[in-house]
Amino acid sequence: MPIQISPSVLASDFANLQSEIEMLNDSEADFIHVDIMDGVFVPNISFGIPVTEAINKHAKKPLDVHLMIVNPDFYLESFKKAGANIISVHIEACNHLHRTLQAIKDLGCKAGVAINPHTSVNLLEDVIKDLDLVCVMSVNPGFGGQKFIENTFNKVRVLKDLIEKKGSHALIEIDGGVNQNNAPLLIQAGADILVAGNFVFSAENPIETIRQLKNL
Ligand code: DX5
Ligand code: ZN
Repeated sequence: MPIQISPSVLASDFANLQSEIEMLNDSEADFIHVDIMDGVFVPNISFGIPVTEAINKHAKKPLDVHLMIVNPDFYLESFKKAGANIISVHIEACNHLHRTLQAIKDLGCKAGVAINPHTSVNLLEDVIKDLDLVCVMSVNPGFGGQKFIENTFNKVRVLKDLIEKKGSHALIEIDGGVNQNNAPLLIQAGADILVAGNFVFSAENPIETIRQLKNL
């Protein structure tokens, strides 16, 4: 399958959200990545359910919602109602990950788990078959525009092996600091979806930048 691109609206111009979403609709993006930060799980606050609804109102691509929040179980239904197609929760924020994943699926969403840079992919061994997506954080979550952590390449390779060994259909998504230099290596290592925030939205021509990432 060709690489899929999930631009993060965290890096977009919030004062012109409608036109930013329309730009993504017109692009080769496969998803729209929606970063939810609560100021507790991560040291930053982004936006929440009403803004997700507003994005969904204009979006013609599936919403890939990344919950960087504690107690995600409390909000799954609200995000589903706000338009989420994929919901990813952080393994570090879930005491009962298996139950949370089932709850996401019961809502009719695809279930993802995001893992911080310090978290071993081996911790996913017993849930990998239940997962639709693993979001490998290639920066410490909380901010856009950070430097890509090089150890990610190795993590992706180990994760890819685990997925194949367990016969899982989970897709590997890379989130943070993705650019034209690391993207080809990530694809080679086994990535299926690339999130890109600043690389896309700071570009002179975001549509062309998405096209280039997609056709590397
Ligand atoms: C980081 C977020 C990322 C981020 C990606 O906490 O989860 O999705 O917005 O942005 P860039 O591509 O700018 O690192
Ligand atoms: Zn994200």
